[in-house]
Amino acid sequence: MDAARATSFGAWAEEYDGWRPTYPDAAVDWLVPPHAVHVAEVGAGTGKLTDRLTERDLELDVVEPDGRMLGILSRRHPGLRIHETVATSLPLGDASVDAVLVADAWHWFPKLDAAAEVARVLTPTGWLGCVWNVPVLRHDWEWRALRLDPALQPPDDLDPLDRIGLSAGRAEQRAFRWTWTLTPRQWRGFVSTVSHVRLLPEDECQAALDETEQLVERACAAAGTTTAPLTHDALCVRWYPPT
Ligand SMILES: C[S@@+](CC[C@H](N)C(=O)[O-])C[C@H]1O[C@@H](n2cnc3c(N)ncnc32)[C@H](O)[C@@H]1O
Repeated sequence: MDAARATSFGAWAEEYDGWRPTYPDAAVDWLVPPHAVHVAEVGAGTGKLTDRLTERDLELDVVEPDGRMLGILSRRHPGLRIHETVATSLPLGDASVDAVLVADAWHWFPKLDAAAEVARVLTPTGWLGCVWNVPVLRHDWEWRALRLDPALQPPDDLDPLDRIGLSAGRAEQRAFRWTWTLTPRQWRGFVSTVSHVRLLPEDECQAALDETEQLVERACAAAGTTTAPLTHDALCVRWYPPT
């Protein structure tokens, strides 16, 4: 994974925080072990999953390498224990956390080294919980609005270990479907935070976002509405390190 792309989000941290969605409660319920007391969130960004975790009775350590993302997170959660570092160097003791949670970020990590570090800090009954908000696109205009190619999407039945790029240990997965409703402007905002669009040359990026907004406007006009739904699967994987 391209390291520059992995850490590109901080350059538009405010927009990221403004336009990206949260994660549904059912997914968080599945990711957080019922016995969990102490959990770590890694690659926390501006705190989209952190917001959900702080609603629960958990001792929380938050790890994120980009100070601009963390600035927003700590503004919203001033008392939280935060660490400006990477997944491969967790500032946590051996066998010290009941879960390591990662939202829309595991694919950016050097997976084998990150997995070794996760295995080190997990208690024997702990797990790694990853979640991605994956768009569920049914119409051609939706694929074009997100500038995604249906032919390049991973298959729905991908093995959970393959999904997290690991071969050791055991993994299971579940998807939690949810829908939000956005105006054409909000669709534009959301798409502007997706790295494969945001990292286009500036003029191409703006042209792509103009097209996104127009596609959604047309879909709304055809449906006689001012908003268009966007469905996601909150795709979750739990990984148990080899013993
Ligand atoms: C798409 S954002 C997801 C942020 C947040 N978890 C969310 O759900 O909105 C990916 C995050 O991973 C972080 N990241 C990238 N490489 C990392 C690494 N090696 N270790 C930890 N975090 C990393 C980025 O700085 C960025 O904040």
